[in-house]
Amino acid sequence: MPAIVVVGAQWGDEGKGKVTDVLGAQVDYVVRYQGGNNAGHTVVVNSPEGPQKFALHLLPSGILTPTVTPVIGNGVVVDPAVLLGEIVALNERGIDTSRLLISADAHLITRYHVAMDKTVERFMGNRKIGTTGRGIGPAYMDKVGRQGIRVQDLYDASILRQKVEGALEPKNHMLVKVYNRRAVDASEVTEELLGYGEQIKRYVADTSLVLDQALEAGRTVLLEGGQGTLLDVDHGTYPFVTSSNPTAGGAAVGAGIGPTRITGVVGIVKAYTTRVGEGPFPTELFDEDGEKLREIGGERGVTTGRPRRCGWYDAVIARYATRVNGLTDFFLTKLDVLTGWEQIPVAVAYDIDGVVTENMPVSQTDFHHAKPIFEYLPGWAEDISTAREFADLPKNAQRYVEFLEEVSGAPMSAVGIGQARDAVIERRPLIR
Ligand code: GDP
Ligand code: IMO
Ligand code: MG
Repeated sequence: MPAIVVVGAQWGDEGKGKVTDVLGAQVDYVVRYQGGNNAGHTVVVNSPEGPQKFALHLLPSGILTPTVTPVIGNGVVVDPAVLLGEIVALNERGIDTSRLLISADAHLITRYHVAMDKTVERFMGNRKIGTTGRGIGPAYMDKVGRQGIRVQDLYDASILRQKVEGALEPKNHMLVKVYNRRAVDASEVTEELLGYGEQIKRYVADTSLVLDQALEAGRTVLLEGGQGTLLDVDHGTYPFVTSSNPTAGGAAVGAGIGPTRITGVVGIVKAYTTRVGEGPFPTELFDEDGEKLREIGGERGVTTGRPRRCGWYDAVIARYATRVNGLTDFFLTKLDVLTGWEQIPVAVAYDIDGVVTENMPVSQTDFHHAKPIFEYLPGWAEDISTAREFADLPKNAQRYVEFLEEVSGAPMSAVGIGQARDAVIERRPLIR
């Protein structure tokens, strides 16, 4: 009964969607456990008509594998309009979504959460977080503040009405009096939600129970995170983070299974680093190397279309991800993007105001001051996208992977060398 967590080891966009899809044939359930449609997971599937690209925001990437039951766990915040839109778009492309299960305990993102997210960001000016504007933070604020609306509330109209009125009252004061915006009408929101409730009713389930029964029956469950370790509200670069726990501990909470069920934690890590939104990023590049990584790596946000900030691999962060997630493996992605550099810098430590540290600094001020200390590895020029065995890689590419393994704290068990499902070198099985 393996339960494997797939977690981003950097600031998101490491290739979690692709890895989940690659493992799809070996698993029975794929569960999204936190976040919402702030995520953008690109999956490229080969078909007789050529490669087909899918951009998934809320649905687990397992939706593309016909034998997988995709699950939206209790830890996710669900925008029902986005969910329904995503289901329709997939159905139009011939993807069957009828197996989907949604936790009755998951919280909803309503239009007042989206309004608050956008309004507060604008109000913050240069102190903004650079959110995706999808209402994620305000929805989690309501959840923790005990004013949230859950999926199950959609099936009791009078409770729903009371909850929406209660949640909206303070927000409307804020919107009108502080932010000079229009108030949101509680009955309009209630009616809208009731309509969505009818449309998603067939998917709603006690997903914690379903997963428990599946694990008892010896099924394999993959827990797919959104975002990444450094965007975790507890362990990330606070306050420049998302409002949930993408780290592996969050997988048990957000899927409703016990932590002792988890048998492996795979950290997805890019062969370099990217970040979207504001916040510190020690290895960030502002020169033509950064441009080149963005260009070759296609580093543009799937959700907001924003160009991603790019920089070199940071082993301090990788070691930190190993620690806070208890990683058993790394899946290294996008090694192919590094083809063509004469030498490739890898940050192995930081210089913080003259003091060398190999660990993630405790204070945010120190992290803002961190200057990377690089080791330089020789590059390679050969196209590596057709390699399927580690030995097929040029010696310097092998050396790069082995070096990252030495400095990152867990084995690089698989290496991605292209977007497609089969563009993977497996060095040891990820599901054991
Ligand atoms: P996610 O949010 O972690 O799922 O990652 P995104 O989908 O936002 O961004 C990762 C991008 O890299 C997607 O466009 C993937 O198709 C692509 N990708 C994943 N693995 C590889 C790889 O090994 N090589 C290349 N060239 N692209 C990859
Ligand atoms: P995937 O799952 C990269 C970033 C936003 C912003 C911060 C807070 O595709 O890896 P939010 O809207 O969550 O309140 O924004 O988090 N962010 C992501 N960056 N990939 C993501 O998801 C992200 N989801 C949120 O850019 O800096
Ligand atoms: Mg993404």
